[in-house]
Parts: sequence; C-alpha cells; structure tokens
Amino acid sequence: MERDEIKVFGPATVSNVGPGFDLLGFALEAPGDEMIIRRNGTDKLVLYNQSGCQLPTDPELNVAAVATASLLRELHSYEGFDLIFTKKIHPGSGVGSSAASCAAAVVGVNELLGSPFETAALIPFAMEGEKVASGSTHADNIAPALLGGVCLIRGYDPLDIKNIPYPGDLWCAVVHPHLEIKTAESRKLIPQTVPLETALKQCGNLAGLVAGLSSGDYPLIGRSVTDLFAEPYRTLELPDFSVLKASALEAGSVGTGLSGSGPSVFSLCRGEEMATSVGEVMKAHFSTRDIKSRIYISRISQAGCKII
Ligand code: HSE
Repeated sequence: MERDEIKVFGPATVSNVGPGFDLLGFALEAPGDEMIIRRNGTDKLVLYNQSGCQLPTDPELNVAAVATASLLRELHSYEGFDLIFTKKIHPGSGVGSSAASCAAAVVGVNELLGSPFETAALIPFAMEGEKVASGSTHADNIAPALLGGVCLIRGYDPLDIKNIPYPGDLWCAVVHPHLEIKTAESRKLIPQTVPLETALKQCGNLAGLVAGLSSGDYPLIGRSVTDLFAEPYRTLELPDFSVLKASALEAGSVGTGLSGSGPSVFSLCRGEEMATSVGEVMKAHFSTRDIKSRIYISRISQAGCKII
C-alpha cells in the first residue's frame, strides 16, 4: 500500500577523521535528527521546524529542501511534501548536522515514491543540499549518513565510495564545545596548495588509517590520525587544542582530532569505558576554560539513515 507519511532518523557523522579531508567519514549511533516527511497534495515543499534551534524555512535556503528538490527534479516529479524537522544535532556543531537532514529527507522522499533509487544513488542529491551549507559538494558526512559505517570517498568525479571495515570495539567520544565555527567560513582558511612533503605525509596517514581500521591495528590507527591540511588552520580558534589532544591521548584515546570543520572534537577509543573517560577529559578541557560543552559517546554505527 502506498504510504503518505514516513519518519526517518538521520545520524550524526564525524568527517575528515584526521587525514581524510573531504575523503573519510563515519556514522554515529547518536545523536541524530528525526524528520517526518508527508505528501501534502500540492507541488510544493513546505517546511516545519519542531527543533529547539533556528532553521531556514524557505525551501531555497534550507539544505534538506534543496536536496529533496534535486531528487524530485531528477525524477521529473511535481509532488509536494511537508518536511517536519526535529533536529537533535545542533547546526554548526561539526558532526554533520546539514548532512543528517539532507540524507533523512532524500531517504524519506525516495521511500514514499516507491524507492526509485538505491540508497547509494541518493548521495549526489543529498550533496546538493550540503553545498548550500558549506559552499562545497563534499560527501564525507553525506556518504556515512546514508550508508552507515566508515566511508572512504576515493574520488569525486565520478563518485567512488567504499565502506571500510573497522574493529567491532571501536567507539568514539565527541565533545561539542559551545563555540561556533561555520564550515563555509572555515574552508576559506585552508590553503589551496600544499608542499609535496606535506601531501606525502597526509597520503601516508590516510592510507595508514584505512589500513589500520581494516585490520584492527590500533597502534597504526593512532599513528595515522593526524591532519596537516585543515586542522592546523581551523583549530586556531579552539583554545589550547594541542593541550586537549595531548590530554586525550594520555587518557587513552587512540587518535583525536577536529570533527569535520569543528568546533566538535572526536577521539577514537577502544571500548565504551575508554570513550567515556576520554570524553570526560575533553569536556574538562573546555570547562576549565569556561566553555560549556556536550559529550556524545557512541559506537561507529553500521547503519545510516533509518526509517523509524
Ligand atoms: N570535509 C568537510 C570540511 C566536512 O572539512 O570542510 C565539513 O563538515
């Protein structure tokens, strides 16, 4: 029977993961956004915000509506939908808030239209929405938000995305300090060219991270979670970032870095207990500097968006 309404969960994601600038990301089990998508009998997208944060309700400016419109255009569909947002991921927090909404919207609309696309084929539509948020069509939040797990974007033209195996006891602590870093602004801080020596180190680290995740080699993962492209420029506004990193590593983090464009920071950890204590250490770093923050402790999620 044809459904008129659906509710979708879109997970938070950690992108870049150190050396994988625009190329690597993974999904978290929580937090995530919820969205109800409902046929509205018109040819328009109508947005309702039930979240505790401000969102654009103009469909031309709202990332999820832009993603949905791009899907509908491809299908030559003139159906209209209500998109009802209950966001649990704070916009601008660095854990893929826009990607979660874009992914949830395209999954829901695709499902209501009888699943003309497989989930992986929805990535380019969701990326159109991401472009509105960040000024670039990167897929390192969108791909894991849709597919789950750890995703490597090997190439963009054409899109070539591969799920990477990872150890079952890999957990992640994310701390979101209540500071704001806008992805579009922070991308402008990153140099457009890098010396060959830097590129070589970054390639080595990304290859090492993928190999370490695939083989469950924690020391290799730890040696590889280093970003030389973006993090050094983006963390200038995070107080004492190198101290935070050192404290997290001392507390048992396997690797710590900026989550996406920040301000959230992530630590990969072996097991839930370790992730919890590393999360507390990172939170303490911010609270001793009078910055409020929120901790999320999660496994890497096998699942991307889920119909709930
Ligand atoms: N790869 C993107 C960036 C992720 O670093 O700008 C943004 O969430």
